[in-house]
Amino acid sequence: MGSSEKTILVTGGAGFIGTHTVVQLLNDGYRVSIIDNLDNSVIEAVHRVKDLVGPELSQKLDFNLGDLRNRDDLEKLFPKTKFDAVIHFAGLKAVAESVGNPRRYFDNNLIGTINLYEVMAKYNRKKMVFSSSATVYGQPEKIPCVEDFELKAMNPYGRTKLFLEEIARDIQKAEPDWSIILLRYFNPVGAHESGKIGEDPKCCSNRGIPNNLMPYIQQVAVGRLPELNVFGHDYPTKDGSAVCSRLHPCYGLADGHIAAVRKLFSSENIGCIAYNLGTGSGTSVLEMVAAFEKASGKKIPIKLCPRRPGDATAVYASTEKAQKELGWKAKYGIAEMCKDQWKWASNNPWGYQSKP
Ligand code: UD1
Repeated sequence: MGSSEKTILVTGGAGFIGTHTVVQLLNDGYRVSIIDNLDNSVIEAVHRVKDLVGPELSQKLDFNLGDLRNRDDLEKLFPKTKFDAVIHFAGLKAVAESVGNPRRYFDNNLIGTINLYEVMAKYNRKKMVFSSSATVYGQPEKIPCVEDFELKAMNPYGRTKLFLEEIARDIQKAEPDWSIILLRYFNPVGAHESGKIGEDPKCCSNRGIPNNLMPYIQQVAVGRLPELNVFGHDYPTKDGSAVCSRLHPCYGLADGHIAAVRKLFSSENIGCIAYNLGTGSGTSVLEMVAAFEKASGKKIPIKLCPRRPGDATAVYASTEKAQKELGWKAKYGIAEMCKDQWKWASNNPWGYQSKP
């Protein structure tokens, strides 16, 4: 069966990584159904996806407002469409918020995913790609991180990803007809090269201020925030700031999901298997600031601040397994990622909304 006859359910498809992956799935000929509760995304993002892929491919996309915590929302979808696979992005991801409000994280990330498995099992749809995170390596003793490292979590958000990996392994072990691919993401930087879709966190828990580095830098560059707080300048790294591996949302993450979906359809007995989606080297926070300044031509004023609780010193990935088994490798360097992110930011200084 060609990809044109296959339908993928994408949970959280209106979000940052979701929209970029949906564009790629449609361009690759898949039909896509999104389910999203718009908790940290807006419907305008889905309109932009349609605009990007054009009227013909847009007909292969349908959007369903729904919350995975409400099983009825899933029960409405599964009987009417025979999903060939599910890509499960929906979830909360702000580390600091999870420390202050762990129940919100357990409710959204755990209950939502457990419901999803229940409904998938009921309708015998048993192929899944799950958004895991490099957070499951905690503070690794060695780098680069290899998939069979010991796993540990450093905060409630990370614990939800770790528990959900364990849940996936348990389900697949008990019911071997499941095929589950766990993708451990490193940090996405950039946006679609059109500048039409990108990261636009609502940050409702943080008075409109982004939690993650790149959306924060972006808001400083467009004048919405005065300066960047650099959390930690005394780490044992090349310049004292924390180091991690970055990849482009299209030429890293979305491509990685397409490769994972292809594997679900082309290989038997996958079991439950994890892959790093990252690069074999890391970039520091200060290097990211310099690269963004270069791409945007804007000065990013910084303030050196104490370390942020729950952050790792340096995390980057071994990508050998994904390269060998998925045929995937992240493309694009930091300069190109920053260029695309700046295009999105300068075209959309207030994200998907117009200036308030
Ligand atoms: C975190 C999670 C990661 C998750 C990602 C989701 C951990 C350890 N990491 O990534 O698993 O996938 O969120 O988006 O659970 N920084 C600043 N100033 C800022 C913001 C960030 O200096 O205003 C620094 C941080 O201290 C950190 C680095 O930038 O050292 C990257 O931070 P961030 O972009 O928030 O992502 P992670 O914490 O790496």
